Amino acid sequence: MATATTTHPSSTINTDFLPLQGTDYVEFYVGNAKQAAHFYKTAFGFQSLAYAGPETGIKDRVSYAIRQNKLIFVLTTPIRSGNPIADHIYKHGDGVKVLALKVEDAQSAFDETTKRGARAYMEPTVLKHNQGEVVLSGIHTYGDTVHVFVERRNYQGAFMPGFREWKSEYNPTETGLLYVDHCVGNVGWNQMNPWVKFYEDVMGFRNILSFDDNDISTEYSALMSKVMSNGNGFVKFPINEPAEGKKKSQVEEYLDFYDGEGCQHVALATNDIVKTVTQLKDRGVEFLRVPNTYYDDLLDRVGKIDEDLEPLKELGILVDRDDEGYLLQLFSKPVEDRPTLFFEIIQRKGAKSFGKGNFKALFEALEREQDARGNL
Ligand code: FE2
Repeated sequence: MATATTTHPSSTINTDFLPLQGTDYVEFYVGNAKQAAHFYKTAFGFQSLAYAGPETGIKDRVSYAIRQNKLIFVLTTPIRSGNPIADHIYKHGDGVKVLALKVEDAQSAFDETTKRGARAYMEPTVLKHNQGEVVLSGIHTYGDTVHVFVERRNYQGAFMPGFREWKSEYNPTETGLLYVDHCVGNVGWNQMNPWVKFYEDVMGFRNILSFDDNDISTEYSALMSKVMSNGNGFVKFPINEPAEGKKKSQVEEYLDFYDGEGCQHVALATNDIVKTVTQLKDRGVEFLRVPNTYYDDLLDRVGKIDEDLEPLKELGILVDRDDEGYLLQLFSKPVEDRPTLFFEIIQRKGAKSFGKGNFKALFEALEREQDARGNL
């Protein structure tokens, strides 16, 4: 029901106490970083960037940094048990640990957020290297997820001190993924508004869109969502919570299997979704599929679009329009055995929204998967 959605007008923010230049990297804690790096290179077209581990003086873990355009993923695994990384994986399975944000001043980012109530994760730390300096600091957000603020002082190395350049003889081609469009957090019952307040008060974000359970519900399950954006719009964090339905909400399934709150999906931008998704599918990435009837009246719903309908239908790509333009999007299946983290591929053609018109078709597709797992 469209009346239930509110679009909040831009408010004037006098001074942004936490200026963010975008996402610096996303770090995943995984059971086997070597294999995960291979998967993201092979399936998603990431390129080898940097390596950290015992050979570079890091004794307790191995990390692979991989890159595609402005996207950097870091895949980290512990090499011994009985430490926080191993405990994180035991509890949550593979998942997002760090949503790292690019800042000009990591000390100030830390001071401004902690004095507004953020729980410290990492005191400002200067990492020096003969190729320059990087300053890191960090705060906790929902669940065991954290934000690390990354200040790069003309750093010339491959990724950051502690890493060495990773040159590989195995270099699959890129798939056209460009940057992080948004990262969604799943939080517990009645926890959406407290986390909205956290992003407002502690990080200076504002709520740009809200969806209630009338917008996001199917016959069976429901969720509520609010989209938080920083001042310049470079960083967007939708926050979901489960809502009461006839059956179990997809957010509840996530919370059960992740064993707590965490990052539900990372949306990756492309300028050519047909080409990108064609390649991802060829390389084995699995996507959710809506029924073909979705396409019967698609153009009536969204109006004229530049793309041919046939490839969109063949690939299962979804389209939605808002006042400013339209967007094309598609959601992967979870990329691990737990029904937790997945990816969204998104191409924006003016639209600044999140595909509300697709929620119903999409969530019905999701519920079919949930049902097959016996969790609906
Ligand atoms: Fe999304």
